[in-house]
Amino acid sequence: MQRIGHVSRRGFLFGAGAAAAIGASAYGQGHAMRRIAPNRASEAFDPDVELELICKRDETSILTGRPTRVWRYAGHLIKGPANALTETPGAYLGPLLRFSKGQKVRIRLRNELPEETITHWHGLHVPMLMDGHPTAAIDPGETYVYEFDIRNRAGMYFYHPHTHEKTATQVYRGLAGAIIVEDEEERALALPSGAFEIPLVIQDRSFDDDNQLAYGDDMHTRMFGFYGDRALVNGRCNVTLDVANRPYRLRILNGSNARIYKLCWDDRTPLTVIGVDGGLLEKAETRPYVMLAPAERVDLLVDFTGRPQGSKLTMLSGEFYGLLPPMAQRMMGSNLPMGEAFPLFTARVTETSSDSWKPPEKLSTIRRFREADIANLDNPIPIAITMAHMAMLLNGRPYGHDDIQPHERIPVDSTQLIEIFHERGGMGQGGMGQGMGMGMMGGGGMMRGRMGGMGMMGMMSMAHPIHLHGQQFQIIERSFEGDEDAYATIREGFIDGGLKDTVLVAPGERLRIAKRFGDFKGRFMYHCHNLEHEDAGMMREFSVE
Ligand code: C2O
Ligand code: CU
Ligand code: CU
Repeated sequence: MQRIGHVSRRGFLFGAGAAAAIGASAYGQGHAMRRIAPNRASEAFDPDVELELICKRDETSILTGRPTRVWRYAGHLIKGPANALTETPGAYLGPLLRFSKGQKVRIRLRNELPEETITHWHGLHVPMLMDGHPTAAIDPGETYVYEFDIRNRAGMYFYHPHTHEKTATQVYRGLAGAIIVEDEEERALALPSGAFEIPLVIQDRSFDDDNQLAYGDDMHTRMFGFYGDRALVNGRCNVTLDVANRPYRLRILNGSNARIYKLCWDDRTPLTVIGVDGGLLEKAETRPYVMLAPAERVDLLVDFTGRPQGSKLTMLSGEFYGLLPPMAQRMMGSNLPMGEAFPLFTARVTETSSDSWKPPEKLSTIRRFREADIANLDNPIPIAITMAHMAMLLNGRPYGHDDIQPHERIPVDSTQLIEIFHERGGMGQGGMGQGMGMGMMGGGGMMRGRMGGMGMMGMMSMAHPIHLHGQQFQIIERSFEGDEDAYATIREGFIDGGLKDTVLVAPGERLRIAKRFGDFKGRFMYHCHNLEHEDAGMMREFSVE
């Protein structure tokens, strides 16, 4: 396996003394956030699963030599089946949580960090009070009790902090974990399970000469996000999985702050995709590669049948371009420029097995939204992405609690059409007029121009993984106008047929999605999942009422 240099050229150290240097004033916008009281356990709630997650400082060995100081979730099960919580031994990654649809879950989140925090269950459909809203942040020493029903279908979900202007740094220090939800529809398929189902969380990190996490507190990081020198899998470097020559299910989550991966096998074996963010596809799809942006998940079947003992298959991030401005690509302070090929992990056949298994023709049923289901067919809700100098905006506005705009008010139990696109407004102009009129969006030759083109906005255009809290959405349409050659390196890697909660919007792309806002009233965030962008204000809220 190729060795990746480990000397960070930027080397901002997360030491005890240095931590204060990335406070809100240096990093984000420094807005104070109103607080609600920490939620307490309710006697009326009788949990099937109860667990405690402690956010704490710890040390773990990642590189040879000195251990690395990290922040992590340490968990223990209070009540429920033993497989509800599985620690990731010897790694900073939080325990794998495994729930079943219909279960009642209570999670006691205890903050033993030196600063405020709050946790969000990315992809789970829960009430606002259980969603990890930044106003629910708790101080050191406090506990927030979450109680919710698992309403989601089977799938892989993601828990991570959602602390106001501190999400990127808290996730970077190690606070992240995966959730797997099971249901009857999926169990009936008898997909590879137990040792043959492997969750893989991919993250990139940089280390200083003392093996400590390094984070670039510089302009490039604030503008384009953090890009590390090494790809870690489940909190470890150079991961090799020993496998038997039989089918496996690999469940991959991109837990990186900003890096986008192009998953492909080194011998060009096509990928068999069976699911995405919100669970199984209707039918397996075969792709040469899959693009995986921060917070996206992909469920792969890999059949090692027929591969000889000792043979290896390596998952790479393959070569691509066009998702970052060339200028940013050159300035990137990482030894692992985004878009260059590098290995992620290797599977090595070490056991023989006679188990064979083929995925059934039909994996699941997804009820497609029809036109009649959609409340605003002629008037889609805009999500205009603006990235101009230091302004990271959605619909021309930065994040502000209690700043709900008319198009952000949504009737509960309605299904809405949403259009996501890049705005080409004036630099940091931020007016609501820009791109807000739907007529302008429809006709707009000006706004639909080549994103890779000339001018400041073209130079600034990059891909943004847009995430909406609450129920998963369906992608109705993805259109593109721009640099076809660059687009050709990514276009086959979007799995748009499944249920999604995070979608990559490449430069020049325009997407239409349909999303249900069911069951719960309240404030639900939507934002860019490039965590540096999120913290810089590329986040807004819908008020479901
Ligand atoms: Cu995974 Cu609002 O985030
Ligand atoms: Cu989320
Ligand atoms: Cu972004």
